[in-house]
Amino acid sequence: MPATPQPDVVIRPATAHDIPICADICYRAFASISGAHNFPCDFPHPEAAAGAIGALFSAPDIYSVVAETNGRILGSNCLDERSIIHGIGPITVDPETQNHGVGRKLMEAVLERSQLRGAAGARLVQAAFHNRSLSLYASLGFDIREPLAVMQGRTRERSIPGCSVRPATTADLRTCNALSHRVQGFDRGTELAQAIQQGAALVTERGGRITAYASHLAFFGHATAESNADLQALIASVDSFIGPGILVPSRNAELFRWCLSNGLRVVEPMTLMSTGLYNEPAGAFLPSVLF
Ligand SMILES: CC(C)(COP(=O)(O)OP(=O)(O)OC[C@H]1O[C@@H](n2cnc3c(N)ncnc32)[C@H](O)[C@@H]1OP(=O)(O)O)[C@@H](O)C(=O)NCCC(=O)NCCS
Repeated sequence: MPATPQPDVVIRPATAHDIPICADICYRAFASISGAHNFPCDFPHPEAAAGAIGALFSAPDIYSVVAETNGRILGSNCLDERSIIHGIGPITVDPETQNHGVGRKLMEAVLERSQLRGAAGARLVQAAFHNRSLSLYASLGFDIREPLAVMQGRTRERSIPGCSVRPATTADLRTCNALSHRVQGFDRGTELAQAIQQGAALVTERGGRITAYASHLAFFGHATAESNADLQALIASVDSFIGPGILVPSRNAELFRWCLSNGLRVVEPMTLMSTGLYNEPAGAFLPSVLF
C-alpha cells in the first residue's frame, strides 16, 4: 500500500503517561514484523518491551517522541544523546497504521533534534529482513555501513591465551575512552560510565594494558577492541548474552568464523546504518542495537 500524507499527525515529546501504550505498540510492531519473517521477536514478551520503553522514556539523556492524531498515539521513537554520535531507536508504529508516513515523521523529528543539538552524526541498527525500514532509512540519508549477525550461545573456548578479563572500574574510564577514540574516532564515555555503575562493563588486559572493553555483553551493549583476540576474550568470558545476542559485524570474517567455530548460533541478520560522520573502525568492535 503506498504511503499517503498524514497532515493531522502531531509529533511531541513523550511523557511517562505514554509508556504503557507505546510499550504495547512497540511489542506488537516488532512481534508482527519478526513473526511475518519467521524470526524471534527482539522482545520475548510484552513486559520486556514495557521495561525497555519505560527505561528509555525516563532517561534524562534520551529524547523520546510520540506520534499522535486526535489524542490517539500511533507510535514512538527515541534519540540517544549520550555521545557526539546520536543513536536512533527503537522506532515503532502501530501495525494498523504502518506505511502511511508516520514512521517518516518520527524519524524526521529526531533527526531535526539531533542536528539542533550539534551531533556529528546519527546511527541506527535495522532488521535486515525489513524492506520498509531499510527503504525509509536509506531515503532519509542513512548509508549502510556493516552487515551484522546477531549471535547467541556460549563459546567452547572459555579464554584467549595472553588475555585476561575483569570487571571495569571508574578508574578505567579514561583508558577505555582513549581506546574508543583510536578505534572509532569518538568515545561513548557517558554510556560506559553508566554501565560501570551497573556492574556490567568488562575490560580485557593484555601485556599489562587495557586492550578492549564492553559496556555490556548484550544486545544493548557495545564493545571496542584493539584486535579480534582482545574482543574474543570478552566474548569468551560470559556464559550467554543478554537479549537476543551480540551483534557481530560479519564482514569481520575472522571474528565471525571464530564465533561460528566456537558454537555460537546466528539468530537474525541486522544492518548498521549511519548519517553524518563515520570513520571506518581501526580495530574490532561490536555495535549495540542502537549503534
Ligand atoms: C519501520 C516503521 C517504524 C516505519 O514506519 P511506517 O509508518 O510504516 O513507515 P512510513 O510510511 O513513514 O515510510 C515507509 C517508507 O518506505 C517505503 N517503502 C515501504 N516498503 C517499501 C519497499 N518494499 N521498497 C521500497 N520502499 C518501500 C514507503 O513507500 C515509504 O516511503 P515514502 O515515505 O518515501 O513514501 C514501521 O513500519 C514499524 O513499526 N515496523 C515494525 C517495527 C520495526 O521494524 N521498527 C524498526 C526497527 S529498525
